[in-house]
Amino acid sequence: MKIIIVLILSIFFYPSLTTQDSTVVENQIICNIAGSVWTSTYVFDINQLPERCNIITIGQYAFDRDDGTNTRIMESDKDVIRTLIEANKPVYTRIGFVYKDDWSSIFDPPDADVFQTEIFDPLVNFLNTIKVNGLLINCEFIYNNVDIDDFAQKMSNFVTAIKEKVDKLIVGLIISGWYYESFSDNTLFDFSITNKALDLYIINWSILNDCEEDKDKTGMTPITSTTPNTTTIEQVTCAVSNSDMDKSKIYAMIQMLPVIPKNLVPEGEKRISTYSIFCASGQADSSQWCTNPPKLSYDQGAYAKTFYVGIVLQQLDTDDYESKCECGPFPVSNVIIDGWTGCPFNDCPKLDRS
Ligand SMILES: *[C@@H]1O[C@H](CO)[C@@H](O)[C@H](O)[C@H]1NC(C)=O
Ligand SMILES: *[C@@H]1O[C@H](CO)[C@@H](O)[C@H](O)[C@H]1NC(C)=O
Repeated sequence: MKIIIVLILSIFFYPSLTTQDSTVVENQIICNIAGSVWTSTYVFDINQLPERCNIITIGQYAFDRDDGTNTRIMESDKDVIRTLIEANKPVYTRIGFVYKDDWSSIFDPPDADVFQTEIFDPLVNFLNTIKVNGLLINCEFIYNNVDIDDFAQKMSNFVTAIKEKVDKLIVGLIISGWYYESFSDNTLFDFSITNKALDLYIINWSILNDCEEDKDKTGMTPITSTTPNTTTIEQVTCAVSNSDMDKSKIYAMIQMLPVIPKNLVPEGEKRISTYSIFCASGQADSSQWCTNPPKLSYDQGAYAKTFYVGIVLQQLDTDDYESKCECGPFPVSNVIIDGWTGCPFNDCPKLDRS
């Protein structure tokens, strides 16, 4: 009898015994390092990562990258992956493109044999060699691909095929919040199909609204707003909840980058900066920038908790990794995590524009 009870109990508790492993997708804080895609002065140091990151995602395996030295993935990003794997830290990377998105070449290739030998096999080989725990499909603009027939089914087939070749691989899809109005239209993209293959969806909340001269400078990602024609996090979330996306798999990716209005940036230069630069420069220079004050970042983390199963911190390499805001390294990451975990709010005055 005792044996039977133990057996039943161990079957019953089996899932919870495995919740610490890297194949569990719920309630994780995923911290993204853009890596080589984003050139900042950030230098990866495993000992300086925010401790509350459960999973790090770094860099991108790009189907169209080959500069002779770096094929598909930058060597520097590969080194970071290796360091994290050696330290037993769960690590994901993305797949996508650097120059021009061409998802039909991946999900709907014209020549199956060429696809197999030139794209699929090298990707599987990379994944099995480097042993990342997860892969995020950086196909944010899914609704630009609706010319692919049965797009959702083809994406699922690709994901299923990869998972068959790579043991315990988590696969997620990053989707831009911009398209929230299309989320429930199954004729455009049917999430009930991808639910079976994908482990997570990541809804990118970043830059839902432009950073314009005359606009509210904290208005890029408001949770709610009374300003006409402003996209809000509430609207995006409402659309997500009305869609067929599996609710147990949805993450929010929270914006952590300052944007400089067009009129302040010379033609052709980057409009995205870092919070280290924001805090280091005088208020006069940066008062026109679009940033999220700490309370908004905190509230976004807390808001995410009400509906989403996890959060993705958009990128550590645009946070204040140099402690220029005088609140320690990664203050934006920390305040978002405080909101998510229900810790008290700690202000960081230099991050506030007033
Ligand atoms: C999220 O959305 C923003 C705004 O469109 C974009 O700049 C960024 O590349 C997206 N993806 C990630 C991973 O941040
Ligand atoms: C809001 O958008 C609509 C449709 O694009 C436009 O007609 C209207 O003028 C806009 N309102 C404001 C205040 O910008």
